[in-house]
Amino acid sequence: MTSLDALWLPFTPNRAFKRAPRLLVAAEGMYYRDADGNSVLDATSGLWCVNAGHCRPPIVQAIQRAAATLDYAPGFNMAHPAAFELADRLTAIAPAGLERVFFTNSGSESVDTALKIVMAYHAARGDTKRRRFVGRVRGYHGVGFGGISVGGLENNRRVFASHLLPHTDAHLPTTHGLPENLFAHAQPTHGAHLADALEEIVAIHGGDTIAAVIVEPMAGSAGVLVPPVGYLERLRALCDAHGILLIFDEVITGFGRLGAAFGATRFGVTPDLMTLAKGITNGAVPMGAVLMQRALHDAVLDASAGGIEFFHGYTYSGHPLACAAAIATLDVYRDEQLFDRAAQLAPAWEAAVHALRGEPHVIDIRNLGLVAGIELEPRVGAPGARGAEIMAACFQAGVLIRVTGDIIALSPPLIVEPAQIEQIIAVVREALRRLA
Ligand SMILES: Cc1ncc(COP(=O)(O)O)c(C=O)c1O
Repeated sequence: MTSLDALWLPFTPNRAFKRAPRLLVAAEGMYYRDADGNSVLDATSGLWCVNAGHCRPPIVQAIQRAAATLDYAPGFNMAHPAAFELADRLTAIAPAGLERVFFTNSGSESVDTALKIVMAYHAARGDTKRRRFVGRVRGYHGVGFGGISVGGLENNRRVFASHLLPHTDAHLPTTHGLPENLFAHAQPTHGAHLADALEEIVAIHGGDTIAAVIVEPMAGSAGVLVPPVGYLERLRALCDAHGILLIFDEVITGFGRLGAAFGATRFGVTPDLMTLAKGITNGAVPMGAVLMQRALHDAVLDASAGGIEFFHGYTYSGHPLACAAAIATLDVYRDEQLFDRAAQLAPAWEAAVHALRGEPHVIDIRNLGLVAGIELEPRVGAPGARGAEIMAACFQAGVLIRVTGDIIALSPPLIVEPAQIEQIIAVVREALRRLA
C-alpha cells in the first residue's frame, strides 16, 4: 500500500490516524465502501455536505459533461452561462431580498468574503466608523483569519491569537448550557434573552461602531447547538435597531438539513447576508457562495467611479464544474423534494435519537431537522477520548458518525430510510454500552 507519511490530514490526530487508518474508496447512495471492502452507512453526509446521497447519477453526469465541454473559464472579466443560471437558481430558493450572489470555493472563503462585502458596503456609504464584527462563543466560521477571528472555538484560535482581525474581540455568549434546556426536543424554549447580550456590546462599544453580527442559525461544528425559540428573531430586531448587518453562516444549515431550504427559511428570520458551501454541490465539487440583500451589492457598485468595484475574488469563483454540479444538485433536491422529506422524517428522527437517553454517559441529546447531537460525559482527565472511541467503534460496526470532542453529531443524507435511522441508533447504542 502507498505510504501514509507524506500527507498531513486536516483537523485529525495524524499519528493516531496513521496507526489505524480509515480509508474510503467508493460511495453510493447512503453508503461508503472502505478499503477492506466493508459497507459503511453514512450518518454524517460526509462532512455535512452530501445531502442528496452519494454519487447521484444526474450530478455525476453533469460534472462529466462540464469537464468535457468547458473545463475552466476565467471569472475575472469573463464568465460562462452556468454561473448566471446558478445565481438565479439560488436567489429563487433563498428568502426574499437575498438577490445577489458571489461565488467562492468553500465555507471559509464564503465567510471571509461576507466580512469583506460588509466592509465594502459600509465604506461605500461613508460609514467608516462601523468596523466591529461580533461573533458568538462556540461559533465555527471556517479557518480563514476572518473566520477564526469571529469564530468562538478556542482551539482554532489559540496559536493564531496574536494575529486575529482587529475589532473582533466581542462575542455573544453561546446559546448552549442552560440546564432547563437539557434533552430539549427540537428548539429549546429557554434562552431567547441571550440575544440581549448584543445590547451589552453596544453599551460598551456603541451600536454605530458595529459592522455586522455573524452567527450560525444552528451551530453545527461545535456540537449541534439549537437556537432557543425567539432567539434569532430577537437578534434580528436588535441588529435592526442599531443599523447592524446580520450574517447567517448557513454552510451546514443550508440545503435542507433543517427541513427547509435554509435555516433562515426554517426560522422565518432573514439575514442581510448568508454564507453557503457544502450542500450547494452535494459535496461533489468544492464550492461556496455568499447571498446578500440587493442593497448591499448596489451600494458598492454605485459608489464606484468606474472600473472594478470590489477588489476580491478567486481563480475558481463560479468554476464550470462546480456550477454544473450545483445546478444538477438543486434539480435533485427539487425533483425528490428532499427538503420536505427531511421535514417529514424529522419527528421519527427526533424520537429515535432521544431514545438514547439513559444510555451510559449520555448527558444531553439535541435535535433539529435531520441533525442530532448526543453529548457524552467526558472521561476524567481525557476529554475527547470517549468520543474518539465511540466513533471508531461505530465505524467498525459499519456506521460513520462524527464527533466533536465528546459530542456525537449525526446528520445523514436526506434520502435516509427509516430502517437506516434505526440502524444508526442501534449501532450508537451498542457502542455506548460496550464502551461503558
Ligand atoms: C458554519 C460553517 N462555516 C464555515 C465552515 C467552513 O467551511 P469549509 O470547511 O468549506 O471552509 C463550516 C465547516 O464546517 C461551517 O460549518
